[in-house]
Amino acid sequence: MMTPRHRAALIGCGDISAVHLAGILACGSELVALCDTDPARLAAAAPALTAIERVSDHRALLGRDDVDVVHVVTPHDQHVPVALDFIGQRTPVLIEKPLAASLAEAERLVAATASAGARVGVTYQNRYNATSRAAKELITSGRFGRVTQALGRVLWHRTADYYRARPWRGTWDGSGGGVLINQAIHTIDLVQWLVGDVVDATGMWGTYGLADTIEVEDTATVAMTHASGVRSVLLATNLNPTNDPPMIEIALEGGTLRLGHELVITAADGTTETITESRTATGARSYWGASHGDLIADFHRDLTGEFWINPAEAYKSLWILKQVLGR
Ligand SMILES: NC(=O)c1ccc[n+]([C@@H]2O[C@H](COP(=O)([O-])OP(=O)(O)OC[C@H]3O[C@@H](n4cnc5c(N)ncnc54)[C@H](O)[C@@H]3O)[C@@H](O)[C@H]2O)c1
Repeated sequence: MMTPRHRAALIGCGDISAVHLAGILACGSELVALCDTDPARLAAAAPALTAIERVSDHRALLGRDDVDVVHVVTPHDQHVPVALDFIGQRTPVLIEKPLAASLAEAERLVAATASAGARVGVTYQNRYNATSRAAKELITSGRFGRVTQALGRVLWHRTADYYRARPWRGTWDGSGGGVLINQAIHTIDLVQWLVGDVVDATGMWGTYGLADTIEVEDTATVAMTHASGVRSVLLATNLNPTNDPPMIEIALEGGTLRLGHELVITAADGTTETITESRTATGARSYWGASHGDLIADFHRDLTGEFWINPAEAYKSLWILKQVLGR
């Protein structure tokens, strides 16, 4: 029998948990325990794994020498309280985005990670897309000179039922925001990763179509100033009639990049080059992207040392959107 790479526990058995389970198994690791505070979700998760240990309190998994790595896949306000317990004992933790529901909690997590010297990762899987990596390489290479301008668009469709099914998603306390923190944060992260650190952010937000159901914003604009002085703008709404692939357009001195479903590189002389994803996500939730497995495999490859998308790195996108929301 093959020795599993690592023994993992999965905390939070909701919508995205199956993607984590698939990623854990695909990279050769083993699932040793599931945890959910909701008994029905706990019982229904991973039905094929009938013998797997199931616990209702993550603290039952502390101090165990058969848990090498933990995935925290809970609502936003439950990322930090759960993760801190494992970070305190230096168990590697992979946390779903965003880092936290609030900046204060996020700062606690950044500080705890640094002082424990723990391996903590945050799931910005779209950085692993072939198109994102090609855009990053092209910008870093200097082939087209410096970035002069950028724009991001997240035009998605979320109904009142999406929020009614998981009430935390529509509340300030549970989620820390709406379309910005839950959907557009991936694109905010990519814009700041590609164009550079953001030193100032402002914007507008409102709840225009879902105010009967949610407290948080369904639509927002973000205006960012990067350390280089470049300005970028992002538009985000959950009121689009369909789920469009998120789009980032970047102008450089010698060409433009359109990063969407594919990456279209246009040189100043009009010649174009197109990079496509080697594999595309399918199904109703294809807008999540297809790179979760790559990020999980990278996190599990070696559980010693720092992960490159660590809390300090994940803090950046949260900081940007919190400047816009003001709370
Ligand atoms: N990276 C992505 O593309 C992506 C996509 C979807 C969701 N997410 C993120 O994944 C996380 C979960 O989202 P979801 O849609 O699966 O939510 P969900 O509500 O469907 O699932 C969360 C589960 O966590 C459980 N839970 C709550 N508090 C807990 C605690 N203290 N201990 C153990 N279990 C607890 C709930 O009972 C629920 O079953 C969120 O952070 C979300 O933003 C990321």
